[in-house]
Amino acid sequence: MTGGGTQGRVTAKTKAFPSDFQWGVATSAFQLEGSPHADWTNWDAILRENPAITDHYSLYKEDLALLKHLGVNAYRFSIEWSRIQPHENAWDHEAVAHYQEIIDILRSYGIEPMVTLHHFTNPLWFTAKYPWHEDGSIVKFTGYVERLVAELTGVKYWLTFNEPYVILLGGYLEGCTPPGLRDAAKALAALKNIFTCHGRAYDIIHDRDADAQVSIAHNMSVFAPWKKWNPFDRILKKTANFFYNHSIINAFQTGVFVVKFPFTRAVEIAVPIKGKLDFFGVNYYTRIHLRFNPFKKMGVELRHLDLDGHGLTNIGWEVHPRGLEKVLRYASRLNLPLIITENGIATHDAQRKADYMKRHVDVVERCLRNGIDVRGYYYWTLIDNYEWLQGLDARFGLYRVDFNTLKRIPTPAANYYSYLISSRSQL
Ligand code: FCB
Repeated sequence: MTGGGTQGRVTAKTKAFPSDFQWGVATSAFQLEGSPHADWTNWDAILRENPAITDHYSLYKEDLALLKHLGVNAYRFSIEWSRIQPHENAWDHEAVAHYQEIIDILRSYGIEPMVTLHHFTNPLWFTAKYPWHEDGSIVKFTGYVERLVAELTGVKYWLTFNEPYVILLGGYLEGCTPPGLRDAAKALAALKNIFTCHGRAYDIIHDRDADAQVSIAHNMSVFAPWKKWNPFDRILKKTANFFYNHSIINAFQTGVFVVKFPFTRAVEIAVPIKGKLDFFGVNYYTRIHLRFNPFKKMGVELRHLDLDGHGLTNIGWEVHPRGLEKVLRYASRLNLPLIITENGIATHDAQRKADYMKRHVDVVERCLRNGIDVRGYYYWTLIDNYEWLQGLDARFGLYRVDFNTLKRIPTPAANYYSYLISSRSQL
């Protein structure tokens, strides 16, 4: 592995990371390149002025060279489904060839690709005719996966869905993302269909490659009561923790989702996902405080408090590195390798970015020493990009993007990540 050239300083104490630990960077296609055929394109006005976002679709070679420069050995990226199938029965061979070229370039750099099949966006035609709560969605999505997996070569690590719960919360409960519904019954139908698709995609991939490593990326958060003494806030914390962090892990162990809210009967949904995981992808960013407020939707108010004193991020999230250990410890009950598929901070301040990375990598190191089987850490993200519904100024990138010129500008955070990698790696 290349990097900051600090090998001489590696001491016995720093060698918690195994030699094949994946030091990566994570991105998603739509956030870098947009797509004229995606449902999200019409959803957010800012995309009308910046339809190509960072123009990564044209500048991919330049961007992949940044990975080489960083010294990462793994890269997570997604395939934009709406580019592959811009119309219902279309199949764009050039788009497939484009993503294949990305895989080939990564391999030529010695970088392991991790491919996400679905990262929030759908083709417009899909959302219009077969939204996730409709059973037709299963045939359409698995048809896409079947053909894509048959055509792409050189991929061992796959993520079927990025953050399925976020799709449900945004698209079906809050209504702030496509398809923009607020309908609990449809949310449950969508949940069942999405997880059915995961189960089928898992089998499709394994039928082609028995050694493939398949997961989802689930964002785990730490929840806390806004006021510890308030029993309502404490009930909310328990409910959110169960729903968000526990129910999904239970479902992979049992094949049953249990949806349980206070003072109501639990709903059980059978889903064909039992054991259909080879590792577990954890996206971790923050802690959320919950307050009971009868005037808010569903009686819940979310807050970020700066209790650790690291300051809130550009988009108001708390920086809470200890929480990473909590969620990894919980996820480890799956008895599977864990990979941190996203972790990052929105800030213009490269020093804060470096500090965030260091604190979280320190936690990963502690987890490794305590026997938690963590196999990788992917920083979110390579270059500044479009942040869902927040626009272009969140600034998660290791490289800054000037959105007028589209120039990529190195930041000290990029150098720091290289240094972290080389100083913590086994020789
Ligand atoms: C995650 C998403 C990713 C990015 C980060 C900041 O929840 O998976 O696309 O937006 O948040």
